[in-house]
Amino acid sequence: MDLAALRQEYMRAGLHEKDLAPDPFAQFGNWFDEALQSGIALPNAMTLATATKKGRPSARAVLLKGFDAHGFVFYTHYRSRKGRELEQNPQAMLLFCWEELERQVGIEGRVERVPAAESDRYFASRPLGARLSAIISPQSEPVANREDLETRLEEAAKRWRDAPPRPSHWGGYRLAPDRFEFWQGRRDRLHDRLCYRKSGGAWKIERLAP
Ligand SMILES: Cc1cc2nc3c(=O)[nH]c(=O)nc-3n(C[C@H](O)[C@H](O)[C@H](O)COP(=O)(O)O)c2cc1C
Repeated sequence: MDLAALRQEYMRAGLHEKDLAPDPFAQFGNWFDEALQSGIALPNAMTLATATKKGRPSARAVLLKGFDAHGFVFYTHYRSRKGRELEQNPQAMLLFCWEELERQVGIEGRVERVPAAESDRYFASRPLGARLSAIISPQSEPVANREDLETRLEEAAKRWRDAPPRPSHWGGYRLAPDRFEFWQGRRDRLHDRLCYRKSGGAWKIERLAP
């Protein structure tokens, strides 16, 4: 297959300044609702990019578990690769790619742990198996084999039954944005890119060249 010839025109919609919400959280909410309604798989899946203090980047998918004017929340292992990077360098970026809508949203900012009580509440809402896995999985560390993990899971199930406590190594992060970019694919690769930047408490909107 000739990958270089794999092309598609983006024709679905445009993004005009007059249609943008002045507040980027409201704009995100509008697009997120449309992503939910469109029936695409995992509309809350996003790529999280982090970097070490020295600037070596890494990226992976995580799930958005809430957003409001304070920021965008996801849950993970605090001692995973991403967790360790966020502890040394709290600058991060989230990227949603909703191909079916020919849309992409990038959100940049600073990340902080969510308060323990908020992580407790979310942890308690997870299915039992997911709670037990969070307890036993040393995320991002090498493990000898899959059987080891399964044995640890069985042991944890016996020990904690249906009430495993949230381990202190697992919880939420909230990214507080200072930049958003909304991208809508357009004909002839003349895409729309509208960027919100926080400048002195207010959001400034700029169009960027595609
Ligand atoms: C669609 C999708 C959603 C995911 N959601 C999460 C998540 O919410 N939290 C998480 O820790 N890992 C999630 N993962 C797994 C991560 O992508 C990653 O493998 C894991 O967090 C370890 O990353 P790290 O070693 O870079 O820290 C998800 C993977 C996929 C494909």
